[in-house]
Amino acid sequence: MKNLILIGFMGAGKTTVGKLLAKEKDMCFVDTDERIVSEQKREIPDIFLKDGEEYFRDLETELLLRMQEDTYHAVISVGGGMPVRKQNRELLRSLGCVVYLSASKQTILERVKNDGSRPMLNGGELEARVEQLMKDREALYRQTAHIDVRTDRRSVRQVLQIIEQETRRFG
Ligand code: S3P
Repeated sequence: MKNLILIGFMGAGKTTVGKLLAKEKDMCFVDTDERIVSEQKREIPDIFLKDGEEYFRDLETELLLRMQEDTYHAVISVGGGMPVRKQNRELLRSLGCVVYLSASKQTILERVKNDGSRPMLNGGELEARVEQLMKDREALYRQTAHIDVRTDRRSVRQVLQIIEQETRRFG
């Protein structure tokens, strides 16, 4: 397999599932947020605060372009906003098999409610913010993904099993 890319909303479980999946399949694990933080030597809220969202989105696109050249046989977990740009959607699909980890608004709210590290969730009431962003992004996640995997009420292990079954046909 080329790469396996996990997309989905904040709190969908991309990083948790991705790390375990990589271990099980003996593949490398890459997290685009972690790569950006380590290359920029600063945290994501700091990037948003000092340089703004567009700057962060440029960093994401630039990283995907580099990954076209040097990333093979990896499980790649990407930030929740990565598929918002059309160029990124195309780049993601060309990197390998894209898996959308989806979850209901309630599940997402439970998972992100005590987390202050996500600037996209700041400002305004959390539930309304999550609802709006999910509405804006749902169709984009679906357009980008080759496979949808629902994560509500499923353990990480169950999600892994479904991904393994569904991705088998990608070779
Ligand atoms: C973002 C999601 C975050 C991170 C940044 C922006 C988004 O990643 O990339 O805070 O726009 O949805 P996670 O999905 O891993 O939380």
